[in-house]
Amino acid sequence: MNEQEAGQHWNENAEAWTALARAGFDIHRDGYNTPAFFKLLPNIKGLSGIDIGCGEGANTRLLAKNGATLQAVDIAENFIAHAQATEDKEPLGITYSIASAAKLPFNNQQFDFATSFMCLMDIPHPEQALKEAFRVLKPGGFLQFSITHPCFDTPHRKNLRNAAGETYAVEIGGYFNYQNGKVAEWTFNNAPGELKEKFSSFKVPMFNRTLTQWISAIVDAGFVLERINEPYPDNEVLAKHPSLQDAQVVPYFLHFLCRKPAGI
Ligand SMILES: C[S@@+](CC[C@H](N)C(=O)[O-])C[C@H]1O[C@@H](n2cnc3c(N)ncnc32)[C@H](O)[C@@H]1O
Repeated sequence: MNEQEAGQHWNENAEAWTALARAGFDIHRDGYNTPAFFKLLPNIKGLSGIDIGCGEGANTRLLAKNGATLQAVDIAENFIAHAQATEDKEPLGITYSIASAAKLPFNNQQFDFATSFMCLMDIPHPEQALKEAFRVLKPGGFLQFSITHPCFDTPHRKNLRNAAGETYAVEIGGYFNYQNGKVAEWTFNNAPGELKEKFSSFKVPMFNRTLTQWISAIVDAGFVLERINEPYPDNEVLAKHPSLQDAQVVPYFLHFLCRKPAGI
């Protein structure tokens, strides 16, 4: 599957995704994934940044509220329309455009930093997207991005549960079987039945890469890998969202903080 075809699926997901995420049903994102991302993020106050694969802009707005000047891109025009409408209502100085992560419409060495929240595992050529992020960064700038964890977001995954229904292990398989855009269908689990009926489920093309491929792509793009993080919900978050219990058993997300070396 090519990038435009994958982007078309995301464009069709945008209405439901925006409505459900804004109603608070993306509990993995809001409960621990985004908070952990911001804990890892270097100070961005006064810096200029690009957010790649911004979706409806929730995380872009958080970056702007941390004092950065943001440009943001997404391949899906429907997501950009929602993000722009929010910017028009409550301006944070964010400039949105429709563009692919693999071909950023920006000059070389334009930004102090780049971010990408949960996007790069959704595109056919993340290696090219990493090279593009490297190109638009100033020397010494950083890229921080999150993806689904390649070791646990595998073609086969099954939660193994005890008598109380709690996950005690996760069975995985097919780690080395590349899926090349095979479409997975799902929605936010904790959305109530009537909303699940109102909105069709998401159709998400899968382009699974191994951990070796991710780290090789980061290094081959020219980055120095500074930190990784595997966020999980603490007990306080679990008390609020008990259905996140399995996310304490294995990590579902992986964060990378990468630096473009100074002086090149
Ligand atoms: C899981 S959503 C994450 C959205 C947002 N970053 C967030 O954290 O809420 C993945 C996003 O990647 C975008 N996307 C998919 N392929 C892309 C590409 N080639 N270039 C830019 N964005 C892309 C989708 O349209 C979607 O908005």
